[in-house]
Amino acid sequence: MMKTLELKNVNKTYGSLTVLEDLSLDVEKGEFVALVGPSGCGKSTALRMLAGLEQPSSGEVSANGNAIKEPDSNRVMIFQEHALYPWRTIEDNVGLGLELANVSKKERRERIHKVLSKVGLENFKTYYPHQLSGGMKQRASIARALVMDPEVLLLDEPYGALDAITRLTMQNELIKLWQDSNQTMVLITHDIDEALYLADRVFVLSSRPGKVVKEVRNAMPRPRDRNSTPFVNLRQEVMNSLDIT
Ligand SMILES: Nc1ncnc2c1ncn2[C@@H]1O[C@H](COP(=O)(O)OP(=O)(O)OP(=O)(O)O)[C@@H](O)[C@H]1O
Ligand SMILES: [Mg+2]
Repeated sequence: MMKTLELKNVNKTYGSLTVLEDLSLDVEKGEFVALVGPSGCGKSTALRMLAGLEQPSSGEVSANGNAIKEPDSNRVMIFQEHALYPWRTIEDNVGLGLELANVSKKERRERIHKVLSKVGLENFKTYYPHQLSGGMKQRASIARALVMDPEVLLLDEPYGALDAITRLTMQNELIKLWQDSNQTMVLITHDIDEALYLADRVFVLSSRPGKVVKEVRNAMPRPRDRNSTPFVNLRQEVMNSLDIT
């Protein structure tokens, strides 16, 4: 299998605060990986490095063997708060990256249409963000990332603000999007079941300074049964490795 993303012996400090210490992990092409760990252990920091929004203090962060120095439309980040522009319609929000990349109006329209159909928002393209539900806003921000046709999606707690029922629906939708693409997914979540339901591998980080304390592989076929014995055993394995105080 080909490694696409790699963090190697990464340290990150902000002044006297050590946020990440000797963090190493890698992600294969097309793989779905989840990161779980205590609040403040540096998960978002690690993801921002993969997005090229931040540099390590020492160690290496690379994509396809090349150091990640800056943001790249091949690796798009989806933030916990949907971050849509309130004054732009859904289609104009989704098309923003294409506009900035000087993609023609005709091609923009086609790509926006395709991606909005994919996430079930084609009938809401002229709506403004405040006219959508929380789940729909999150779908729109996923559409905004997908429209760029990135190789890698970096998802920072994308469903953190949603209710439990919507979360379950969104998880199934995300799996479908991933299965229909050959994208690589890196998801941060505080929800152990969400991590195990979605990911091929779950990396458990220690409390700050964050490093990998456990790597749990889930080879269960999808859709996964959260109540099955193997699932319950994996959940226990993750729980045991988490540093809960
Ligand atoms: N730009 C920054 N300047 C200074 N400190 C920062 C900066 N960004 C993050 N930190 C610190 O780094 C630590 C880790 O933050 P980070 O957001 O990566 O944690 P996290 O694991 O994503 O937490 P949560 O689960 O609560 O989102 C925190 O203590 C935070 O205060
Ligand atoms: Mg975070």
